[in-house]
Amino acid sequence: MRKELRLSALLATALLTVSLSFTSGSALALSTPSTSVQLVDSVLVSQSQQLANKKPVPRDPAKINVLVNKKYPLIPKNYKPKTSTISGTGIELQIQTATAYRKLAKAAKKDGVNIKLTSGYRSYATQSYLMDKYTRQYGSAYAQRIAAKPGTSEHQTGLTVDVGNYNRKCALQACFESTQVGRWMAKNASKHGFILRYPKGQEKVTGYNYEPWHFRYVGTEQAKDMAKKKSKTLEHYYGVASSPKPAPTKTSPKNSSSSSTKVTTANLNLRKSANTSSAVLLTAKKGTKVSLTGKKSGTWVQVKIGTRTGWMSSAYLR
Ligand code: DAL
Ligand code: ZN
Repeated sequence: MRKELRLSALLATALLTVSLSFTSGSALALSTPSTSVQLVDSVLVSQSQQLANKKPVPRDPAKINVLVNKKYPLIPKNYKPKTSTISGTGIELQIQTATAYRKLAKAAKKDGVNIKLTSGYRSYATQSYLMDKYTRQYGSAYAQRIAAKPGTSEHQTGLTVDVGNYNRKCALQACFESTQVGRWMAKNASKHGFILRYPKGQEKVTGYNYEPWHFRYVGTEQAKDMAKKKSKTLEHYYGVASSPKPAPTKTSPKNSSSSSTKVTTANLNLRKSANTSSAVLLTAKKGTKVSLTGKKSGTWVQVKIGTRTGWMSSAYLR
């Protein structure tokens, strides 16, 4: 405790000089492996946020400036926006976003580019389904780099579009950036109030892999202001560009050894309780990564797969 106070006092002086020149936060990127520097950086980011960016982080999901990420989940978590459907797609977008998107698509068409809208508003339940699917397919760690947990996806605000080419070239892949639609969007989206939300090289800040197909509506004014300030991400723009990973769950030193990751050695049922007659929540494919919660019951262990928590027989985990 005393140590922390001393650190804060030391930093206060440094901050007076740092905060004035700190706009985008890039100088404080948290990629260093050094724990002590990371600690200093995270204190700097939160304190400089208070000093340099007096405005609170926008959390109202009904406003187009809302910040939603791993650290700033939706409130309420089952939020549903007022939407309008984009004709010919069945995809819903938040009202202002839908208007802006229609204009954007029309402008692209004028340039000879046909944009395929592939995703827009996604409910909490849809996001939950997606996350579970990716977790089974790729394991929990990778799934969390490509998809948001339910209640933390920008798609649930209706402010976000995923776009593609009608020929499906490089759909949902990094090489989408060099396709016709990818290039047009990179050049023109911001004129219509949409920003590339998960840029290349900012994975530590956004918490997600590069997604050249995922664009977030913030309105033309803010998109222009972000470009003017050279804000690399929405997190930089709001002065919260530290790693958006949620704080690690506390594990006491006593049982920290039991809290770890295991891999299934067979197709294995995740059950509601620690016995074979209990309900099957899902069947994890062989090779699925699971996290142990630390709870045990005989030869059974409680595990987390994506958003689901249940019980598995430890005989098939390594
Ligand atoms: N693919 C983005 C991160 C989402 O699931 O919202
Ligand atoms: Zn997306």
